[in-house]
Amino acid sequence: MNGYHRGAILFAGLVVLPVFLAMRSQSQSQSQSGQTRALSGKEWPLVGGDLTGERYSTLTQINLQTVQKLGSAWESKRFEDGGTSIATPVIKDGLMFVTAGTHVYALNPKTGEVIWNYRTDMHPAPTCCNAEGREGTSGTALVGTNIISGLGLPNRQGVAFGEGKIFVGLTDGHIIAIDEKTGQREWSQQIGEDRRPGQTASPAPIYWNGMVFGGLASGDWHISGRVTALDAKTGRELWHFFMVPGPGEVGHDTWPQDDVWKGGGGGVWFSGTMDPDLGLVYFTGGNAVPRGGELRPGNNLFTSSVVAIDVKTGKVRWYFQPVHHDIWGVDAHSTVLYDAEVGGRPRKALGIIRGDGYLFLLDRETGKPIFPVEERPVPQNAFDKTSPTQPFPVGGESMLPDCSAWKDKIPAGFVLGCQFTPASSDKPNILATGFGVHIAPMSYSPQTGYFYAQGNASLSWRRRAEDPYYDGGFGPVPGLKNHAVLAAIDSRTDKVAWTKDVTYAENGSLTTAGGLLFRLVGDGNLAAYNAKTGDVVWQFQTGNAGEGGPPSSYEIDGEQYVAAVAGYSVWAFKLGGTAQPGTAPKLPSSSADNGGYNGPIQDIDHIETGSLFREIRGGQRYFADEYAFNPYRARVKVGTRVMWTNNGQTVHAIVAVDGSWTTGPMNPTERGYMTFDKPGTYNYTCKEHPWSYGQVIVVADDAQDKARTEGQASRGDIQKANDAQSGGFYTIDQATRGRNVYSQNCGTCHGDNLGGQDPAPALVGDAFMTLWAGHSVGDLFDRTRTTMPQASPGSLSPQAYLDVVAYLLRSNDFPSGKQELNDSPAVLKGMTISQK
Ligand code: HEC
Repeated sequence: MNGYHRGAILFAGLVVLPVFLAMRSQSQSQSQSGQTRALSGKEWPLVGGDLTGERYSTLTQINLQTVQKLGSAWESKRFEDGGTSIATPVIKDGLMFVTAGTHVYALNPKTGEVIWNYRTDMHPAPTCCNAEGREGTSGTALVGTNIISGLGLPNRQGVAFGEGKIFVGLTDGHIIAIDEKTGQREWSQQIGEDRRPGQTASPAPIYWNGMVFGGLASGDWHISGRVTALDAKTGRELWHFFMVPGPGEVGHDTWPQDDVWKGGGGGVWFSGTMDPDLGLVYFTGGNAVPRGGELRPGNNLFTSSVVAIDVKTGKVRWYFQPVHHDIWGVDAHSTVLYDAEVGGRPRKALGIIRGDGYLFLLDRETGKPIFPVEERPVPQNAFDKTSPTQPFPVGGESMLPDCSAWKDKIPAGFVLGCQFTPASSDKPNILATGFGVHIAPMSYSPQTGYFYAQGNASLSWRRRAEDPYYDGGFGPVPGLKNHAVLAAIDSRTDKVAWTKDVTYAENGSLTTAGGLLFRLVGDGNLAAYNAKTGDVVWQFQTGNAGEGGPPSSYEIDGEQYVAAVAGYSVWAFKLGGTAQPGTAPKLPSSSADNGGYNGPIQDIDHIETGSLFREIRGGQRYFADEYAFNPYRARVKVGTRVMWTNNGQTVHAIVAVDGSWTTGPMNPTERGYMTFDKPGTYNYTCKEHPWSYGQVIVVADDAQDKARTEGQASRGDIQKANDAQSGGFYTIDQATRGRNVYSQNCGTCHGDNLGGQDPAPALVGDAFMTLWAGHSVGDLFDRTRTTMPQASPGSLSPQAYLDVVAYLLRSNDFPSGKQELNDSPAVLKGMTISQK
């Protein structure tokens, strides 16, 4: 990520199975995995529930029979500074801990009341007007134009608990310890390198026996991902393990014997798991760097691998690499420890799912597969030094459809590839099935024996730049829709037990001994499913769509709770809870009404045939895309003569998708024209490169101005509580200034066309609207000014943040007006982003 898993297993019979497994999980909590699993099941001290990462609660009060009586116990106050989170609530000693935006919070798990909050290391910027906002515990929010230029925000996955302290990874590579009762910081330790951009202590740490295990993701900026063990009392480093081994270290011989291994990669993005009996911690590493494979022949350990590290020595005991020589940015995801039965004998096992939806089940003592794994030949590309084979579990099934499912479904001009089809500069028109099982952590239920995973079945445009270090975006492809899937995979057969189509596949799940699976479904609802069948048995509207965290479960005063972070706040549920639901957010219909064209619209009558893309990776890196129109979507008034310039190196002729018009061929530097006499939407492509698409939107003469001022014909509109002016709440001039701010400070991560580049999300279109629907412009402003640009949050002037928000509003087709967006709370908080 630049941002992201055989013999036969036999069971006596399905009927007796649940009973048997329930008994086993009982005894296991005392004996074999006694230390691994939280003893009482009443608390949830690590994001994965316990050291297994199963995200399984042994509590049974909320179950298939009682779930209809489940109601909301409370919703917390919204996080400060418009902060959002995907953390799993951690519950210990009568407190709940989450990270969100600029803060770490301790809440009362019975009421949701904030007990303390801790704001991480933020320094007032030179232009700042007051010095509030220094690090420390405070109940006060950022006010007015007080800005910050901190580096280390809390990671968004959550915290670990141990010895009366909570441990938090920060986005500048620090891990800090905070006293659970006072909210005061006890120690802080850099686990990366001093003052290096791009490094982040991304995963929630884990705690065991006086030790804290954290991970460093490098964002692939010339820093190897690493796992670090710290002394929980002092923060002193005990050992570290590099995911990209140096000379003399195990695995270094899978790299060429030059300096390319120093490029970084192997970022540790996910929390580890641990087996105390074996004395092993398990962590996974992300993709290799550079993205292009030509400079690094070999398997490139331990990128896209799981490693078992001896907790005493910090040395690797075994490893398993689901993706050799990763040139796709697949990564290896979180691990889950579970107890398997193989041939009637118990085996300590570990599950890890690969991006293409195959689950690998390994013996966690030795790393040897429980189901045999075979190496299968995959498509080759000599230039990229592709691995001749990739591993597959024999008899295993992927939870995602394979490439044949897409036959005849791709836009004209493209050719279909499969998962391991390499990108190639000679073949710029490959659409291949993506590695869609991504961020959402899996859960595992010992009761059903199923793993629960989520992913997107989708096609991705396989491209590559000449620069092997370029890992950014390419032009958009119209009409491609993600198809999100929730799946249960049977640990005894490695076959898919069931799959369900879902709205969104990035929010992880919880399973319980009550036979339930809980997850935020992406339309604002928290849903409970029958874990055995996948049927939805209950849901509740939180009012927050889009991203949220995996739920956790705990018990206080004899009552079981389920809690989840739904974007901007925490919600908790119990039987008989009576708190009111949120308002269902209005979600974008779909970009299908634009013919699948999704992306910012520019008011311009001059289009270039090629675009320049860039990203940050050791300075800015560029890719001149011959096949991406700039802009991709242009809007003009009726009667306009639109001009195309061939700024590329080959001949391009613009032709209507329906064949009704053409500019004729243009040589490099030549121009072509077309006059549009009727309002409408005109999709076109390039005759010579029919995979290169663009769109001209022609509006009636006055309609364009109307669209700007009244929001007619626009996808979204802004509702103002207090309507003192008609029209929108920023000016075109301001948005133009914001565009400059954006291209200087944001485009390298989010894409110059705002289309997003993993892991920075798109800031236009359905994805953006889904997340922001129902929130105020002030929330968007706060979120941006306190957490962006990601490597130096708060570093721009307040005006620049307002301007860039104006640009985001404009790019999402919100109407402009006569007055600039300013920082008056009435304006900022009074405007709700909504779907038209
Ligand atoms: C170094 C890369 C980087 C830069 C530069 C950057 N961002 Fe981000 N941004 C991210 C990542 C990664 C995320 C997702 C993780 C998160 O939310 O923290 C994100 C999230 C966001 C979000 C929340 C998106 C959503 O819908 O949840 C907004 C809004 C945003 N960025 C705006 C900006 C703006 C405006 C700028 C420029 C002032 C900027 N970003 C610069 C990497 C970056």
